[in-house]
Amino acid sequence: LAHAPYSKFKVGAALLAADGQLYTGCNVESASYSLTVCAERVALLKAASSGVRKIKSIAVVADTEEPVPPCGACRQMISEFGEEGTEVISANLQGKAQVFTIKELLPTPFDPSFLPG
Ligand code: THU
Repeated sequence: LAHAPYSKFKVGAALLAADGQLYTGCNVESASYSLTVCAERVALLKAASSGVRKIKSIAVVADTEEPVPPCGACRQMISEFGEEGTEVISANLQGKAQVFTIKELLPTPFDPSFLPG
């Protein structure tokens, strides 16, 4: 359940791992605001800590007029656990949705090929 006492903005996420398993997440805020973790990264971290290394798609849902796309930090992590065609679905509570690929949202990611060694 979203822990958003400061922004009051509740966000949910669900990802489909390559092995077919589903992982959910919600935003978890901190009184030290910048430590807040978005719903997408909570779902990714839950999946990663269960051994998932590749995801097929990730959805993010919030109670907004227009569907909310993931922030830059989440795009980076989605790209690391995804592939170019990995789908990012943004939706609101009315079911209005937009579908992107992670490549569209983050065309030039920092990836492990830039790391030395
Ligand atoms: N938030 C998410 O969880 N995902 C997004 O895609 C956008 C922002 C959260 C972080 C914070 O708890 C609240 O929304 C306001 O920024």
